[in-house]
Amino acid sequence: MPEVDVRLVDVTKKFGDQVAVDRINLEVRDGEFFSLLGPSGCGKTTTLRMIGGFEQPTSGLIELQGQDVTWLPPFKRNVNTVFQNYALFPHLTIFENVAFGLRRKGVKTSEIKSRVTDMLNLVELPGYEARKPTQISGGQAQRVALARALINRPAVLLLDEPLGALDLKLRKQMQVELKRIQQEVGITFIYVTHDQEEAMTMSDRIAVMNRGHYEQLGDPESLYERPTTRFVASFLGISNLLAATIVGSDGGYSRATLGDDTPIRLPTALAGGQAAVSIGVRPEKIRLSEPASEVPAGHNRLTGVVEDASYLGVSTQYVVGSRGGRLTVYEQNVERATRAELWSRGDEVQMTWSPDHSFVVPSEGEEPTEPGSGVGEPARTVPA
Ligand SMILES: Nc1ncnc2c1ncn2[C@@H]1O[C@H](COP(=O)(O)OP(=O)(O)OP(=O)(O)O)[C@@H](O)[C@H]1O
Ligand SMILES: [Mg+2]
Repeated sequence: MPEVDVRLVDVTKKFGDQVAVDRINLEVRDGEFFSLLGPSGCGKTTTLRMIGGFEQPTSGLIELQGQDVTWLPPFKRNVNTVFQNYALFPHLTIFENVAFGLRRKGVKTSEIKSRVTDMLNLVELPGYEARKPTQISGGQAQRVALARALINRPAVLLLDEPLGALDLKLRKQMQVELKRIQQEVGITFIYVTHDQEEAMTMSDRIAVMNRGHYEQLGDPESLYERPTTRFVASFLGISNLLAATIVGSDGGYSRATLGDDTPIRLPTALAGGQAAVSIGVRPEKIRLSEPASEVPAGHNRLTGVVEDASYLGVSTQYVVGSRGGRLTVYEQNVERATRAELWSRGDEVQMTWSPDHSFVVPSEGEEPTEPGSGVGEPARTVPA
């Protein structure tokens, strides 16, 4: 297990009586690409600013590489930050922008030259040394900002929505670039974004934040496949949630019924002893077929009527009304190549899926609200 690089213990930040960050416990591992993901106002920037030292916690403890830095000013922390508005020095060349931190430290000219060259190679901007910030594009400016932040070899790099100003295509390119650069330099990145796809593309692990705390922490796949709260289920992709009652179990699977007695199976381990739950299934896990056609043994089956069909190229998105509620279904456009072969509005269909593709979240109105009750790593006590 790699060492912990950044540790937050019961960190709270209040602005007046508003709680921006609510008793967060977090451990970011050495060399990890870690993201804080959540909607506007959930406390991402505040958390990042406390790690960087730009904001002090109202209570709690922050450690960097085992050292308590809670009260250290930013310049005494081995941390650097890249902001959304990357604020390059307009009067300095790209070379001097990148060299800035080294000059301030009094590093020898020959070493500066070689380290700036290395950095510009890393961000794929060799040959841009003599240009001014006004003579490069937004994406290139973001790379320069990254080079400038990395040249001091910080232990941790903090990034607050650094791609926010770029258009979608450039953003996607830069996501792949950022991941490559992070792997190459091996520095711990803590990345703030409200864009779930962006977080999933780059991160080793993600903390999904809501109202000042995180609800779930894990790698992208487990967050997507097994969300444990309604918020996480709906924030990461589309979820179909079916209100159900658990009525029994056999052979590792629990039996549940929807309001109208439609039986649904799910792994018992997911049911967790609750009686009323919401069973989730992702749109791409559902297969559509003719009503009453054969179903693989043990699969769940729900009949419904197509209410909407949208052809999206790669896939077709259906909205199907059923007695369990309205479900979204994605079908890859592999075999059904022509529009005439797609299901259309008013068609009766059968939806089937494997019980193993289910997840379970608390039923509506039963969501725990207590901070720290989300699933993640166990809260740590303050070391003596
Ligand atoms: N300096 C401040 N004074 C008062 N309230 C603040 C201050 N900074 C942040 N807040 C409040 O704290 C909460 C969390 O803000 P924060 O900037 O951390 O959110 P965020 O998750 O980064 O949101 P966004 O995605 O919009 O950037 C918000 O309700 C915000 O209004
Ligand atoms: Mg923010």
